[in-house]
Amino acid sequence: MKFIKVDTYNELSREAALVIASQLKSKPDSVLGLATGSSPVGTYRELIKMYENGELDFSSARSVNLDEYVGLSPEDTQSYAFFMRTNLFDHVNIKKENTNIPNGIAEDLDAECRRYDKLVLELGGVDLQLLGIGTDGHIGFNEPDSVFSKLTHTVRLAQSTIDSNARFFESADKVPTTAITVGMMTIMQARSVLLVANGPSKRDILNKALNGPITPEIPASILQLHPHVTVIYSEN
Ligand code: GLP
Repeated sequence: MKFIKVDTYNELSREAALVIASQLKSKPDSVLGLATGSSPVGTYRELIKMYENGELDFSSARSVNLDEYVGLSPEDTQSYAFFMRTNLFDHVNIKKENTNIPNGIAEDLDAECRRYDKLVLELGGVDLQLLGIGTDGHIGFNEPDSVFSKLTHTVRLAQSTIDSNARFFESADKVPTTAITVGMMTIMQARSVLLVANGPSKRDILNKALNGPITPEIPASILQLHPHVTVIYSEN
């Protein structure tokens, strides 16, 4: 595991974007596993800058997002589909048909989960998986549990996750209580993983996840078993 500590969020974003850019340059049709949350926003901003400067080409890239809220349509401004369009996809030349996000309004959510796993498999798996980390150690929306969930599944969000994510909604009671998330298989089979975390609120959980026991009660701790993980942490 490579651990990079930087001083500012801007540095974190730049470093993370460089890792993704280098992946895309070495394999233009890379399958990028993408994440939402506030941590990767700066990374996406840097990638957009690189694209605008003619340094990066997304025309062959494919993407699979980690998760989506159940009950929010892609047009909903709080959906992760909307987040990805506004923070990245609308600003670079990735083909919309090459971007994938679980469908939070699928009639049959179990079938949607199976479809998503099949899709990841058909794409040949993820080349580079970008991750944030929740304050309870969740990755994607894999919440603390008694087991690591292998496959894409629906999950009941932890109260702490609902509280943390309430800042994006009018109020906490507007935050969906369930989500679809890829399981640990998609994340652990990614050929490399890049985790970004910033701010003092992430320091303790990051320490536990990276240096403590490997346990599904801290889902990110499973990354200790992955052979190619880079963690970029900014204290501020
Ligand atoms: C959400 C996402 C996670 C993300 C987490 C942390 O719960 N599903 O993928 O890692 O938020 O978000 P933030 O970076 O805003 O702290």
